[in-house]
Amino acid sequence: MPNADPIAIGAPTHNGNIPGQVKTVLSMMKDLDLRGKPSVVFGSYGFSGEAPDMIADELRSMGMDVVGVIKSLRKPDEKVLRECMELGREIARRMEA
Ligand SMILES: Cc1cc2nc3c(=O)[nH]c(=O)nc-3n(C[C@H](O)[C@H](O)[C@H](O)COP(=O)(O)O)c2cc1C
Repeated sequence: MPNADPIAIGAPTHNGNIPGQVKTVLSMMKDLDLRGKPSVVFGSYGFSGEAPDMIADELRSMGMDVVGVIKSLRKPDEKVLRECMELGREIARRMEA
């Protein structure tokens, strides 16, 4: 993971929280030096959708550069898909810079 360029993490919201498997990954990431690394967070949800913002906060606390957070109420619609494309382009631009 320290050798990756950008890091994208996706998770649904379960019981107002980040699913346990993703929490495990986040706790392992805390042992790595990921400061300044660009990242994006995404996730579908059913009604409240807390998990992506909670993940973004965790990444920021590790010093990561959270470029964007995308949330989709259930299946992504055209607007959300466009947001995903734009965020992908933004990440690619940062990799070129
Ligand atoms: C056990 C369980 C708990 C859930 N809790 C929440 C919740 O607290 N807030 C929310 O917005 N959606 C909740 N959902 C809905 C999921 O976030 C939503 O269905 C999501 O799109 C599931 O993605 P997945 O198919 O990748 O699991 C819950 C779903 C399940 C199965």
